[in-house]
Amino acid sequence: MKRLPLLLALAALAPVCARADKFEGLALTPPMGWNTWNTFAGDCSESLLKATADALVDSGMRDAGYVYVVIDDCWMKKERDAAGNLVPNPVKFPSGMKALGDYLHSKGLKFGIYNCAGTLTCAGYPGGRGHEFQDALLYASWGVDYLKYDWCNHGTANAPETYKTMSDALLAAKRPIVFSLCEWGENKPWLWAERVGHLWRTTGDIGPGYIANGKKEWEHGWKQLLDMNVGLEKYAGPGHWNDPDMLEVGNKGLTNAESRGHFAMWCMLAAPLIAGNDVRHMTPETRAILTNRTLIAIDQDPLGHEGFRYRVDKDKEIWAKELSNKSWAVALLNTGDAPAKLTLDAHELSFLSQPYYQVTDAWTGAPAGRSTEPQVSSVDSHDVALYVLKPGN
Ligand code: GLA
Repeated sequence: MKRLPLLLALAALAPVCARADKFEGLALTPPMGWNTWNTFAGDCSESLLKATADALVDSGMRDAGYVYVVIDDCWMKKERDAAGNLVPNPVKFPSGMKALGDYLHSKGLKFGIYNCAGTLTCAGYPGGRGHEFQDALLYASWGVDYLKYDWCNHGTANAPETYKTMSDALLAAKRPIVFSLCEWGENKPWLWAERVGHLWRTTGDIGPGYIANGKKEWEHGWKQLLDMNVGLEKYAGPGHWNDPDMLEVGNKGLTNAESRGHFAMWCMLAAPLIAGNDVRHMTPETRAILTNRTLIAIDQDPLGHEGFRYRVDKDKEIWAKELSNKSWAVALLNTGDAPAKLTLDAHELSFLSQPYYQVTDAWTGAPAGRSTEPQVSSVDSHDVALYVLKPGN
């Protein structure tokens, strides 16, 4: 009989002791950083990573929040070593990964790396399948803070189980590592990945343009990915984000207006902001887009609500994102082929609950008056007018 109080006490402790599914407390706002793939594809190297890290600091991008520096595919040798360990390509990374991680950390940055849940990565390097726990320990020993995990060459593997295995391996390695699932939305990760990871790709790959137009070398422009994310907003929140793929802002193929529109819409989606341009040589316009504090604050708002598409007109879409303190971000996207005058009329926005708002133009940060007055903006083709509405007279 004496056992009963003890059993009751143990039962009360059970939820506290329950086995965690992933590292909690990471990515409470969408991760921000830079990745090698969109500009450099397989040409990653220690010298590129270090020069990029320096440029992230010098350009103000790090201080704007871009801290995860992620090496994508092609960093390894083609074979594991005799002990089954992954080996960095010694020509590309002569000082090794621990030294690179130390360099990034010394700059106030974090270290991200890539592998794949299949037997081989998409570019044909050794994948993680069957080596999950060994690889997680190796990444932890290098000081890795972020793992992007792809889905090529997975054979008949089951996605939720496969990603759960890697998530367990990361937990067992005891280093807090953001786990970024890159499963392209094939198995609806928004329905199961919250328990195993911190962000998950919802779609196939982005290319440098608004719409792919059947171009063979890339699958989707950012507008197509935006459309594919409609309806997924309810699955995102602090510590678990939909990822419509990395940024093409500043890359050849997009007009400056399209880079602005792309960035604005990714902020409306509470998307991870992983830059993919050559930050060593970016134009002042690109830098201004990527470091715009008001837009970044919309993306990073601690409420963690993803925006939704409110209305589609012929050449215009209205998107809305709820922010903290009953504020809203409202985006007007010009989907037409020509510049247009777009109007923000708060009376049309049925989700607004307060009688009055103070309106700020998010691009300039300038006050734009009260919500009782319609705002008219000239918006280039595929660009976005973006406003923050804060309750107040
Ligand atoms: C897949 C991913 C891309 C990139 C490449 C690398 O296509 O979706 O983001 O990582 O693999 O090979």
